[in-house]
Amino acid sequence: MVEYPASNPLLYAWKPVGLAERIMPYSSVVVLTGAGISAESGLKTFRDNDGLWEGHPVLDVATPEAFHRDPKLVNTFYNQRRAQLLGGEVHPNAAHKALAAFEKNFKGEFTLVTQNVDDLHERGGSIEIYHMHGRLLQGKCGYCEHSFEIRSDLNHLDQCSECKRSGALRPDIVWFGEMPMYMDEIETKIRRCDLFVSIGTSAAVYPAAGFSDLARYCGAKTLELNLAPSSKSEDFSESILGPATQLVPQVFEEILETAI
Ligand code: OAD
Repeated sequence: MVEYPASNPLLYAWKPVGLAERIMPYSSVVVLTGAGISAESGLKTFRDNDGLWEGHPVLDVATPEAFHRDPKLVNTFYNQRRAQLLGGEVHPNAAHKALAAFEKNFKGEFTLVTQNVDDLHERGGSIEIYHMHGRLLQGKCGYCEHSFEIRSDLNHLDQCSECKRSGALRPDIVWFGEMPMYMDEIETKIRRCDLFVSIGTSAAVYPAAGFSDLARYCGAKTLELNLAPSSKSEDFSESILGPATQLVPQVFEEILETAI
């Protein structure tokens, strides 16, 4: 593992052990992002100090049972998150933008998978994104599964425009106990990538936490970019500690420079 020192951090952290310098060129890159990539945009992570799950226990707001028990409380939690996202103070940061630039300029295959429900990758310029845990700006009807764009507050009592029933409008977000989205597509991409990069995730939630294992098993190099060690840091080919806004632009520029 590489620590993130205070002075000249990137040079120290990346250059001497640079994956891109040792093994190149990469032809297929898969990136998995988590809440850490949006932290410097002002969105709280889940498990850091003062994280979202500290003030709002998971079992109260992020399970189908919680919604069944108290749909108003659950929708209020996500309405607040949506309002913050759209309130004008949250913007994509240098890490989001660097991934978008990489997508644009990389000649090989690039896949961006995010656990985040915010739209900062989109606003940063990324085009193809697998939102495996759903999206805050999408609602759905719990009865008929009809999914629709939503930029204001959701009220479970409102009528579904598709099935016309009331009482089950909720965010189109994957809760604990539900199946993440796009799993087949993501697995296919990971199986054929030669570089897997995990950014800003604690690796506490499966199946996303197991993606690096699959990539490694299939022969890919695995790189972690995170502020603090995650539960899987030791398993990565390389783990670099530091803020995403500094690490991601530098690392992805280097990968691009050494690409085919
Ligand atoms: P976590 O809150 O579990 O982890 C955030 C990670 O980001 C931590 O490892 C931090 O060290 C790191 N981090 C914080 N600030 C950073 C920065 N500026 N630069 C780089 N890294 C930074 O969030 P996730 O791993 O995304 O699921 O959580 C995974 C899933 O658990 C979420 O998608 C959510 C949650 O329950 C659902 O709600 C379904």
